[in-house]
Amino acid sequence: MRVFGVPLLCGALFSYFRTVKSSLVTFPSAVLPLSSLFNNQAASLDGTTGNFDGYGATYAAEYLPEGPWLYNGISYDLPSTWGQSQDNVIAEGQVVKLLNATYVHELHIVYAGDSSGGIAGTFSLNYADNSVKYLKFTGKGWWKWASLDFAEIRTPYHFEEYSSSKNWNSSHVYQISLSVPSRAPLESITLPDTSSTSNRLHIFALSMTPSFEPSCSLLVPQISVRSAQFSTRWEDVNGQRAQAVAITLANLLPGNYATSSNASIHPRYEISVAGEGVSTVTPGLVYRLASADQARVDVLVLNNEGTGNATVTIKDEFGNIVGTSVGWPIIPLRTEWTADADVLGTRETPTWWNQAKYGIFIHWGIYSVPAWGPPSSYAEWYNWDLHNPPNSSSKTWVHHLDTYGKDVVYDDFIANFTASTWNPSAWLDLFTEAGAKYFVIVTKHHDGYGLFDTKNTTHRSSVHLNPHRDFVKELMDTAKSDYPDMHRGTYYSLPEWFNPDYSKYGFGSWPGNLAHNAFNTSELEPYTGILNISDYIEDLQYPQILSLALDYDTEIMWCDIGGPNKTLDFAAQFYNNAMQNGYQVTLNDRCGAVPDFDTPEYATFGSLSTRSWETSEGMDPNSYGLNTATNASEYKNGTTIIQTLVDVVSKNGNYLLDVGPTAEGDIIAPMADNLLAAGKWLKYAGDCVYATRPKIRLGSFRFLTTPKTFCIIAFNKPSDGQFTVDAGGAALPIQEGDNIVLLGPSRNSQSLQWNIDESGVLTVVVPQDQVDQVDYAWAFQVTYSG
Ligand SMILES: *[C@@H]1O[C@H](CO)[C@@H](O)[C@H](O)[C@H]1NC(C)=O
Ligand SMILES: *[C@@H]1O[C@H](CO)[C@@H](O)[C@H](O)[C@H]1NC(C)=O
Ligand SMILES: *[C@@H]1O[C@H](CO)[C@@H](O)[C@H](O)[C@H]1NC(C)=O
Ligand SMILES: *[C@@H]1O[C@H](CO)[C@@H](O)[C@H](O)[C@H]1NC(C)=O
Ligand SMILES: *[C@@H]1O[C@H](CO)[C@@H](O)[C@H](O)[C@H]1NC(C)=O
Ligand SMILES: *[C@@H]1O[C@H](CO)[C@@H](O)[C@H](O)[C@H]1NC(C)=O
Ligand SMILES: *[C@@H]1O[C@H](CO)[C@@H](O)[C@H](O)[C@H]1NC(C)=O
Ligand SMILES: *[C@@H]1O[C@H](CO)[C@@H](O)[C@H](O)[C@H]1NC(C)=O
Ligand SMILES: *[C@@H]1O[C@H](CO)[C@@H](O)[C@H](O)[C@H]1NC(C)=O
Ligand SMILES: *[C@@H]1O[C@H](CO)[C@@H](O)[C@H](O)[C@H]1NC(C)=O
Ligand SMILES: *[C@@H]1O[C@H](CO)[C@@H](O)[C@H](O)[C@H]1NC(C)=O
Ligand SMILES: *[C@@H]1O[C@H](CO)[C@@H](O)[C@H](O)[C@H]1NC(C)=O
Repeated sequence: MRVFGVPLLCGALFSYFRTVKSSLVTFPSAVLPLSSLFNNQAASLDGTTGNFDGYGATYAAEYLPEGPWLYNGISYDLPSTWGQSQDNVIAEGQVVKLLNATYVHELHIVYAGDSSGGIAGTFSLNYADNSVKYLKFTGKGWWKWASLDFAEIRTPYHFEEYSSSKNWNSSHVYQISLSVPSRAPLESITLPDTSSTSNRLHIFALSMTPSFEPSCSLLVPQISVRSAQFSTRWEDVNGQRAQAVAITLANLLPGNYATSSNASIHPRYEISVAGEGVSTVTPGLVYRLASADQARVDVLVLNNEGTGNATVTIKDEFGNIVGTSVGWPIIPLRTEWTADADVLGTRETPTWWNQAKYGIFIHWGIYSVPAWGPPSSYAEWYNWDLHNPPNSSSKTWVHHLDTYGKDVVYDDFIANFTASTWNPSAWLDLFTEAGAKYFVIVTKHHDGYGLFDTKNTTHRSSVHLNPHRDFVKELMDTAKSDYPDMHRGTYYSLPEWFNPDYSKYGFGSWPGNLAHNAFNTSELEPYTGILNISDYIEDLQYPQILSLALDYDTEIMWCDIGGPNKTLDFAAQFYNNAMQNGYQVTLNDRCGAVPDFDTPEYATFGSLSTRSWETSEGMDPNSYGLNTATNASEYKNGTTIIQTLVDVVSKNGNYLLDVGPTAEGDIIAPMADNLLAAGKWLKYAGDCVYATRPKIRLGSFRFLTTPKTFCIIAFNKPSDGQFTVDAGGAALPIQEGDNIVLLGPSRNSQSLQWNIDESGVLTVVVPQDQVDQVDYAWAFQVTYSG
């Protein structure tokens, strides 16, 4: 009996031939023409034409890629010549019609916001069945002051004010892909309305990936290799350094087949990669890929200076080849880094960081002595606020006068920074019990006082001044020897507020001149410990951060503020040192160059960002350093911590939650207790957080997956003995035979009854006594059958 080429019979024959295979589909894309909607000129040849931001600023045309522009396999209709005419749409609620209504898998956007801040908006998706779905979007502004974002298109400067004058902040255009629900054909897309905001969304190009409708009544997954990227990450496999190749598979069937097991990979596909000099040592396994969904998996390869292109091969559970995908460029695993922005810019966050999800930030220093700030301020900014302005308009100035009198200057607090009860193991026990997988300690804040041995760069440190201890070393060493699973990071402020050696670099709130006495401005305050150096960057900043890498073995360099830097030289040595010693490290986006991850502050992204990111905020609603003026009842509680963590992780972020210890070195009980409360939840539900990957989210739940499970996390307590999930048109990858449990304190959670109806709404029956045992968030874990 023949199976192939008998379309009319293929459905009927399928049951006899369980080995019938899908073939691989090339990941398609189609341009959505926008030029008829163009209402803005962003690029200019010399700065005198165009007006991108409303203030006459423009991109320098020569640095923008000519269209058609191919990025990650998607083609975009960018102008073939820039700077001559309108080239983008300011999103004001315009409607982009598809030529023909069609099922759409993914939308691809080339955009930029026109101020330096973040941007948000919602696309409306208008379907042929008259339904409308809303697609939330968060993006970035075209440049960022003193710092920089990762960007797909970078230009070294932009023009200002209708003129040839250049602003040398790196200026960007971004690309983003958004999943589109595909239960019905899409007719049109209504752009967000950002016309009245001070940060308008400019869209340069739109493309889409259509779904693949099966022509044959035989329903099989339509698998496509979305991307195969040779990464800078590696793992040790039998003593060999195996490179991770990140493979993204897409199932291009439309979403209305989601619950059909025939439409999904079943029970397992094995992915391998091969090419000249490249062989797979650990294949990737995909256990579920429902229609309209995507799955990402790492394949570990040995890459012996491989060249040319690699082939991705997919096999089923019997070892039969399902299909292959060719033409994926091989990039060798780098063993030596040079101070070259293009090379360093290829780096990404290590696997351990991607899987850790939750870290503890520690703001501890001389500011922990006054430990005070007015409402809604950062207490660690005490010294700046004391001087700005130096009069009764500053609440910190008034507080200081009332509490210490006019004769006490900031450096007098050094004597009272005692760390008298400090015990690094107590901190690390707390972080462990809290469920954190890494910490980041402030080694030097803007006040310039280091908590480590600053050697001959300055004697403004806890080693040279009171209390004559190397706190960073004590904490790092304790962690290394007694808490091997806890990763170690260091915060470092590149500038200093009042260091006179910084004055030649000074900007904004970091002028670098000695502070004038807040109570007698004709006197200058001391900068205790300063040494006679000739250059702040060469003799202080660079040797200090290098020492944190080479002498303290930090795994995360978490710079602050950015500005003048020698980060390229630093990063090369940081990575080489780690590579030689067999571990993997990462750098945030505030080091002035080559960021691995973005760091929104007291803010989270509104939607999934594929680029690595980490949000940070204090246990205090407004401060990182301890603020004794804050009522402890306002600290983040178990609910806030867990729900924020899960929300951030569901958008592909990490959560860095900050504590402000006392000058004695204690993390006060109300902070510690809330961290421990959240840690209890993570003990039983952590499988739905750590090492998960985010899933498209539409609706009020958070979705996360691991290779064999899918988690639905509800923030509202289920009642009435059941629980329903309407994913708002997104496909839930749940199929007959799957096992669903509510993760709770009793380890042997029992299987729950469940059902999915035609429209994709999931109902789970859950006994109230199980629900009542759980606090903060209800994690329903689906384990795939098969
Ligand atoms: C759109 O549909 C019409 C009518 O079915 C067809 O003639 C045309 O080729 C389609 N266009 C595209 C771009 O698919
Ligand atoms: C970055 O932009 C700010 C604000 O426009 C400007 O003051 C600064 O000089 C720019 N930096 C550089 C290096 O041009
Ligand atoms: C799904 O596959 C089974 C065999 O495994 C077959 O009996 C059934 O007809 C298929 N359903 C569809 C909709 O193709
Ligand atoms: C690699 O594949 C690309 C397509 O992805 C193709 O353009 C190129 O010619 C291939 N290179 C080699 C050496 O085969
Ligand atoms: C404090 O100084 C600031 C800045 O110089 C000034 O604007 C403000 O009026 C002063 N306030 C008082 C109460 O003197
Ligand atoms: C330092 O501590 C002593 C003893 O508690 C206290 O009297 C003094 O006011 C403190 N001074 C400062 C500047 O914190
Ligand atoms: C302020 O400082 C100057 C310079 O040290 C001094 O001459 C003056 O007396 C001080 N003023 C007061 C009010 O203490
Ligand atoms: C600082 O060093 C410079 C150059 O070595 C020297 O000329 C100057 O006298 C020194 N200043 C002090 C205060 O030691
Ligand atoms: C500090 O010491 C290092 C190593 O001994 C030396 O290379 C460097 O020049 C010194 N820096 C200063 C500013 O004296
Ligand atoms: C970091 O230093 C490099 C090299 O000096 C410089 O080009 C870049 O502008 C600096 N970054 C920032 C944000 O100032
Ligand atoms: C702190 O919060 C508690 C509980 O909300 C409240 O009873 C108390 O009055 C507050 N204390 C202060 C100083 O605001
Ligand atoms: C936790 O904090 C949130 C936000 O402040 C608050 O709404 C909630 O009531 C608190 N939960 C408990 C149990 O105190």
